Amino acid sequence: MDQVLQKKNRCLGVLIGGSGLIGGTLAYYFKTKTPDEFDIRAPSSKKLSIRNAQDIIVYLKRVRPDFIINASMASLDSDAQLAFEVNYLGSINLARACSALKIPYIHFSSAAVLPHGENLAEEDQLPLTANLTNYAKSKLMAEKTLQHMMKEHDLDCTIIRVSIVYGEHDHKIQGFHRLLFAIADESMPFLFTKRGIKHSYTNATKIPAFVHHVLLHREEFSGQIYHFADEEPVELDDLILTIRAYLEVKTPREIYVPYSLVMAGKFVLERVAGFLSWFGITARLPPEYMFLRNVYLPQVLSTKKLQESSFIDPAPEENIYTRLPGLVIYYLTRWAHLNLITRFREEFIGNDLESDFLRHPDELLNSIHADSATPWPALLETEELAALPDDDDPADDGDSL
Ligand SMILES: NC(=O)c1ccc[n+]([C@@H]2O[C@H](COP(=O)([O-])OP(=O)(O)OC[C@H]3O[C@@H](n4cnc5c(N)ncnc54)[C@H](OP(=O)(O)O)[C@@H]3O)[C@@H](O)[C@H]2O)c1
Repeated sequence: MDQVLQKKNRCLGVLIGGSGLIGGTLAYYFKTKTPDEFDIRAPSSKKLSIRNAQDIIVYLKRVRPDFIINASMASLDSDAQLAFEVNYLGSINLARACSALKIPYIHFSSAAVLPHGENLAEEDQLPLTANLTNYAKSKLMAEKTLQHMMKEHDLDCTIIRVSIVYGEHDHKIQGFHRLLFAIADESMPFLFTKRGIKHSYTNATKIPAFVHHVLLHREEFSGQIYHFADEEPVELDDLILTIRAYLEVKTPREIYVPYSLVMAGKFVLERVAGFLSWFGITARLPPEYMFLRNVYLPQVLSTKKLQESSFIDPAPEENIYTRLPGLVIYYLTRWAHLNLITRFREEFIGNDLESDFLRHPDELLNSIHADSATPWPALLETEELAALPDDDDPADDGDSL
């Protein structure tokens, strides 16, 4: 990458999954922190679906990138075909493209490929069996084929295995944010875990600095898998009770529900959902229910390899507890705006504009017509903007940057 940077002014990267939790954080970082070094194209899945090999070829022939980052995934509860096509085939087709173009490929994988336990190393992997979830199976197969391609076909690839990710802009409310939602919504009556069960967590805001470093140090990071997670694991019950205290809600009560009872409850809920479907009512359990076993068993990723690498954590003091206040404000405001949660409305939103819009729309309209409906002076004055050719605008391309 350094050589490319010496030859060209900027490296051109393609980011797949740029609208997602991790991809969005990456897109924002490269746009704001490294605009002189990197030019990132982030086509939406409508413009470039990695399920379609022809789409990939046409797009890459046109863009000719210097590297590709794959932060895409099919929804957690996708059927076998979608999980296979997006998480496995799509990932492998991108790798084949990188191999042909002789450019680096940064692939995001998941702790779902790991067994339960503590001090899990990069070499650890679950055995590939039929009874894995579609998500875990497709992510594990992708890792295995990428490892094969790195060994046999000189693929210049780094696999970044992340754990439970926390950060802003999770528009699907998955993983940790689903837990936060359940506590804020007071829909978790008791603790669905055992005392002291530890998991690793990944801070989304630290991922871009690592990807940036990995791109600039290919000799060290090429052909490698890295765990990217906070050094200290977190006890799930303590995290839940901290969030409860922070939100000043009464539930979940500090009663630990045994796994056998949870499975019985899940069985009943599934039957109820099936019964409701007879009346045309669709009731679905959140996809995280497929990971219920995980909240009763520890999964701690070793970060020794990461710490011994040349990457330096930009904010070692930051962890899920220190980020909690910011995340709570961000998500409760967002969920209140979307009418998903009403309880915290007053604390997090409720400004003058909203009350005028609700109660005095005529006055609001008049005041806007009086002062805020003229052409924007800032744009009128920018003559250069009008002179810019259309194709300088990546949005023309349907890309999200
Ligand atoms: N979030 C976590 O807690 C977590 C944990 C472990 C591992 N990971 C891994 O981290 C990576 C990113 O996860 P995330 O949580 O950021 O995902 P996410 O928020 O669910 O976003 C998924 C992204 O994938 C894109 N996508 C889906 N189907 C596609 C297709 N056919 N072609 C191209 N793009 C497609 C989506 O684009 P559109 O919106 O345009 O469809 C979206 O931008 C994944 O590899 C995941 O396995 C995440």
